[in-house]
Amino acid sequence: MTAELTVPALAELRLRRSIKWRRFPGDVLPLFVAETDYLPAPPVAAVLSEAVTRGDIGYSTPGPELGKAFAGFAGRQWGWEPDPSQVTQVTDVGVGVVELLRRLVRPGDPVVISPPVYPPFFDWVPEAGGRVVEVPLTGTKLDLAALEAAFAAHPAAYILCNPHNPVGRVHTADELSELVRLAGLYHVPIISDEIHGALVLPGATFTPLLSVPGAAEVALAVVSASKAFNLAGLKCAAIVSASPRMARVVDGLAVEVTERTGHLGVLAAVAAFTEGDAWLSSLITTLAARRDQLSSLLATQLPALRWVPPEATYLAWLDASALGRDAEPRDRFLTEARVAVEPGTRFGAAGSGFIRLNFATSPEILTEAVTRMSTLST
Ligand SMILES: Cc1ncc(COP(=O)(O)O)c(C=O)c1O
Repeated sequence: MTAELTVPALAELRLRRSIKWRRFPGDVLPLFVAETDYLPAPPVAAVLSEAVTRGDIGYSTPGPELGKAFAGFAGRQWGWEPDPSQVTQVTDVGVGVVELLRRLVRPGDPVVISPPVYPPFFDWVPEAGGRVVEVPLTGTKLDLAALEAAFAAHPAAYILCNPHNPVGRVHTADELSELVRLAGLYHVPIISDEIHGALVLPGATFTPLLSVPGAAEVALAVVSASKAFNLAGLKCAAIVSASPRMARVVDGLAVEVTERTGHLGVLAAVAAFTEGDAWLSSLITTLAARRDQLSSLLATQLPALRWVPPEATYLAWLDASALGRDAEPRDRFLTEARVAVEPGTRFGAAGSGFIRLNFATSPEILTEAVTRMSTLST
């Protein structure tokens, strides 16, 4: 049994200067943005402090290390070994997806997404010149019949969230196989955002899309160590291709796209993917314990909230519609309970009455947050 990770005291956390700790006043418990409260994995902290001490904080230059490190990690974690030479560094997942869309989309082309979904999906499509077409999830699952109808109209691309933020679903190998079949049949390229792939909790099995037979011909993945290892500020992600056909989409990217990656981000990602397995396993143990804790806290203190516990991620998608519609539950939790969560409406219309709560924190902060939230009357 791996030990749980600890979290610094709240006063220490409040010294952090990232958005999680700066967005709201000091009396608010911030459980909104997807940052964790854990300290970095020791191999990551070591490589970063060594680089800073040496003054090794200049520009990154694309090299083979990131591809090799990710291929090794994917092989050990998921039994899938991409070709390291088909791993291309980019600034972050958002940049990776937008730049791929720019290659695939002509102005006004439809691009399909499945809300409720990570809010920037709604922005990345128009940023690249496309038009969002929504095929909502059914419950927490992909609606494959509705996706087939949408794919039959030949959209320029489909953006998959695998695992799916905010509902925390790990799409099954069968579901992904069917998705790949549809993409092949209707010639719809898939961009699979797999930033949460390393955050699959006990009980579920992650299937990288490109490991599905046939996917290599129709799909690209965008991956990063940044979510599991909490490295968002360092700016490093990677696009993965697995066939000459899809590699041509990546080859067309401007060279600057890869050069805009953070040097410290690459160093940290290589350390995380190469030497981070033991720490990651403690993180997963910790998150599974927080998920269980949240389950009991909700059952005893906030039974008005309904949820399907996530199979992956540290994000709880909570139906708070007993407390109001649209963004009202989030606004009430913020103003009346001083707990900041994401309003469900940011994830699409289906999020009305929902909130998304980040439970990657200490048991004490989680208890305090739910206790505060439970003071609201329905
Ligand atoms: C599904 C998903 N994609 C992308 C991102 C952001 O990634 P990046 O900071 O690398 O753009 C997040 C952040 O939470 C996310 O949940």
